[in-house]
Amino acid sequence: MEMMNSLSQNKSTGVLENLFGMKGGHEDSSYAKNSSVQLMIVEAAKPILERGIYENLKLNFNGGAIVRIADLGCGTGWNTLVVADRIVKAVQSIVEEGNKREFEVYFNDLASNDFNSLLRILPPLGHDSGDADGGRKPVATRSYYAAAVSGSYFKRLFPRKSLNFCHSSFSLHYLSRVPESVEQKSSPRVYISSDCDEAVGAAYLHQFEKDITAFLSARAEEMVGGGCMFTLQCGRKSGSNIMKEQGTFGDISRHLEYAFEDLVIEGIIKKEKWETFNMPWFATNSEEMESIVKKEDSFSVITVRVLEGFPLHSITQVKEGEEEMFGRSVENQYRAMFEKVVGTHLGCEHLTNEFFSRIAKRATAKFKEYLEDKVELVVSFLVRK
Ligand SMILES: C[S@@+](CC[C@H](N)C(=O)[O-])C[C@H]1O[C@@H](n2cnc3c(N)ncnc32)[C@H](O)[C@@H]1O
Repeated sequence: MEMMNSLSQNKSTGVLENLFGMKGGHEDSSYAKNSSVQLMIVEAAKPILERGIYENLKLNFNGGAIVRIADLGCGTGWNTLVVADRIVKAVQSIVEEGNKREFEVYFNDLASNDFNSLLRILPPLGHDSGDADGGRKPVATRSYYAAAVSGSYFKRLFPRKSLNFCHSSFSLHYLSRVPESVEQKSSPRVYISSDCDEAVGAAYLHQFEKDITAFLSARAEEMVGGGCMFTLQCGRKSGSNIMKEQGTFGDISRHLEYAFEDLVIEGIIKKEKWETFNMPWFATNSEEMESIVKKEDSFSVITVRVLEGFPLHSITQVKEGEEEMFGRSVENQYRAMFEKVVGTHLGCEHLTNEFFSRIAKRATAKFKEYLEDKVELVVSFLVRK
């Protein structure tokens, strides 16, 4: 194809994965400051995580008797540390009395992740001082050793049989690439939608199956028998059709398309720029996820289920006069998640700013529509056979 988009060019040089990273730092549009919705959902899934650990985790060791935990696609910000504390505490509670264990948490993400910001807020090693703010903020000290591990979790990251527990939240919906057949066609759709060719949905599902299978096979090598894995990712309702129902991603993709469309109508970008952008993500349902896990065959399924009904935006009510503030907040949320991937495609800061200002403008004008956007998730708890 003559006009290859910047995503595919980056993909062919192995850089695509590095575009998925959330926006680092601590400014208003950073992921650290725009992940309160994610934290609320992680809180809602806490009972599944903790019960899974209490009832299923077998602490087998491959020498050293150190409990090794990996957070895959850890991102940056307090959410990451809240999760690490929570897992360590839950595992500590099943350690038999008299068996003092040391813990090590590996924070994994792509090399483009802002590991520095994460490591800077890591509390000092020390004795646990109890849950701060009812578990919503990490404790003042940590009771685990910590290390950052950069690289894609679709490949091997750790030595064989070294991990006891793996966690991944809000990450596994990212594909390793836009499916090749989709990448080769120009279309104003940035993702699957009901007016796409059915082959588009099939191509995304196929890529997702390939990626999750690679993820599971890599972890199967790295985990000890009886080790457990908790995953939480954006998804869609049980039994739902790929082409008609893409949950949160359907809504977000539409908003991204509107922003591209506005820039085209205003003559700021050419139509081809819009038509060659595709989001490398997939919202699975619980049946697809369970079937991939069973086919790969290294893990037993304890549960795979859908959680739904969460608001997509951190502001859930807009009073008169607050519309612009809402628009700015949506812009910040979108910048946190998409500035890297959209910015790379548009190729310069000026166009990127134009793009996100259109997101803010529409969210201000159509705030009622945005307030209806909901998040659906697929959560799973698995045990290494
Ligand atoms: C939305 S953030 C989630 C961060 C955090 N886990 C949370 O729940 O708030 C998704 C993270 O997944 C990471 N990610 C995406 N694909 C990845 C891959 N193949 N390997 C490792 N990390 C990946 C991104 O870089 C990003 O930091």
